[in-house]
Amino acid sequence: MRVFSGIQPTGQLHIGNYLGAIRQWLELQEKEECIFCIVDLHAITIPYNFREFQDIVLKKAIEYLACGIDPEKSIIFIQSDVKEHTELAWLLGTVCPIGDLNRMTQFKDKSKRFKNSINAGLFNYPVLMASDILLYQTDLVPVGKDQGQHVELTRSIARKFNKKFGKTFKIPKLLLPKMGAKIMSLQEPKKKMSKSALSSCLFLLDEPKVIREKIMKATTDSGKKILYNPKRKPGISNLLTIYSLFSGKSIKELEKKFENKGYGDFKKSLAKVLIKSLEPIRRKRKELLNREVYIKEILKKGAKRAQVLASSTIKEAKNNMGLT
Ligand code: TYM
Repeated sequence: MRVFSGIQPTGQLHIGNYLGAIRQWLELQEKEECIFCIVDLHAITIPYNFREFQDIVLKKAIEYLACGIDPEKSIIFIQSDVKEHTELAWLLGTVCPIGDLNRMTQFKDKSKRFKNSINAGLFNYPVLMASDILLYQTDLVPVGKDQGQHVELTRSIARKFNKKFGKTFKIPKLLLPKMGAKIMSLQEPKKKMSKSALSSCLFLLDEPKVIREKIMKATTDSGKKILYNPKRKPGISNLLTIYSLFSGKSIKELEKKFENKGYGDFKKSLAKVLIKSLEPIRRKRKELLNREVYIKEILKKGAKRAQVLASSTIKEAKNNMGLT
């Protein structure tokens, strides 16, 4: 099976990214052919700091590696290093109805947040994402729930293209984790955890003190019991999910463990688990920060390997469309 997924380089990785996407990647790289991409071309569709951008992209690669992505097992590369991504995006744009793009919730959200810079790139973002996925004849796309609509659109674009020009692309499947597909905000547990709300978001590189503070301040629900019930107790249920995924203990086990304890004890224990689980990532990142040449080499090699696969698909797509 071929696996493809991507993450934007801007903003720090948070535990939503980790539990929704990266954890799945770590499992998949042990048995499947995995391709992971730092999607710098997606990130420039909203205002960004172009002077620091290269450094930001490199640091994101370091975070990937610190999380355990292994360049011996997976291909890791930067999107803009493989020009076929933008080329195929143009071709796919010609079969994607604008009505479909208008329906994308991420576009609607971002258009509200960045009212003064709604550009064509932001509108076409999902077509570039479809190109990322289809270029590699991908079988599985492991992502969090918020990307489900984009993967569904990718499938629809692939079907339309195949129908019109003959079978060219594999139809990829969305792969959501059984648990953790949507980690919620610590302060507003009915909203998704997102890097745009700093204090509601637990970053992988947060210092132990900050982790403790954020968890102790996390919104809980009325009542006193530690019970999993996302509708009635969204705050505690979200924290239970996080606890379970980082500790390997089931929700049932955790409910039992904290049966006679209050929210305070539960949160203290969760903060401990998080600090212990995230420490190796912080340590590995520190080590890698001094190895810029090595990281650049990994990314260059990754792009070369990716390009071999991508160029074969684009040749076929152009040929089938009657282009040379
Ligand atoms: P991005 O960078 O916003 O997010 C990266 C991954 O993290 C997941 N995620 C979450 N999962 C659970 N709970 C959350 N609160 C949470 N927040 C984010 C996302 O679902 C995603 O898997 N458009 C994509 C990047 C992309 C891509 C691709 C992904 C570009 N091309 C091709 C897959 C395949 C994005 O902006 O992800």
